[in-house]
Amino acid sequence: MRVVIQNDYQKMSVWAARHIAEAINARNGKRFVLGLPTGSSPLGTYKELIRMCKNKEVSFANVVTFNMDEYVGLPRDHEQSYWHFMWSNFFDHIDIKKENVHILNGMAPDLEEECANYEKQMREVGGIDLFLGGIGVDGHMAFNEPFSSLASRTRVKTLTYDTKVVNSRFFDYDIANVPSTALTVGVQTVTDAREVMILINGHNKARALQAAIEGGVSQSWTCSAIQLHPNAIVVCDEPACGEIKVDTYRYFCDIEQNERL
Ligand code: GLP
Repeated sequence: MRVVIQNDYQKMSVWAARHIAEAINARNGKRFVLGLPTGSSPLGTYKELIRMCKNKEVSFANVVTFNMDEYVGLPRDHEQSYWHFMWSNFFDHIDIKKENVHILNGMAPDLEEECANYEKQMREVGGIDLFLGGIGVDGHMAFNEPFSSLASRTRVKTLTYDTKVVNSRFFDYDIANVPSTALTVGVQTVTDAREVMILINGHNKARALQAAIEGGVSQSWTCSAIQLHPNAIVVCDEPACGEIKVDTYRYFCDIEQNERL
């Protein structure tokens, strides 16, 4: 696993955006399939990718996207739906084709069919080339809460009290307004991608970073599953490194020294 440490959130976001753009450009216009997260962590990366796209440094014309998750019961036009988040923070500002965007529908009449169909659509395009992810303070990837199976696939998931508390900041700080269930890709759906890149920033994610890279592979920190992936990168900022060993920190600073922006 690679761990790329940057001084701050801005540099971390620029590094991640450049890495994604390089992977897309390496295809020379052939289809590239990108898995995407919501949350505050990827916002800087999306901002930089928008800038690069406007500047003609990258094009999304042949990029197909699959989002990680969506709340159950929120219509697309709800301000806190992940559909709304993705269009307003990213898709509306790049040259992606509408038909190439895939986001789980939390209002689907048959949620299990929606999830099965999502996995089928990923298979039909040949799988995900690069899955970008964030991480919750408890180490969850997408909505794969602690103790989700590391072999899980897209399904309906009940959100933990902790996640509802953290996400209540988007729902007037009222936990009663946070949906109790979500549709989410599974841990295995993420790790099936040919490359996985996880963004981890801020002091409040320090324990999660420690568990993700130094702890054992465990369903209690679902992000730790990336340790078994042959091509995983964690991109983080200095504040997120507070709980890793000094030796671990030095090791990655040393082998990734040319990557510091
Ligand atoms: C939610 C999302 C995750 C995201 C996490 C962290 O739970 N389902 O995909 O990684 O929040 O969000 P943030 O980046 O805002 O800390």
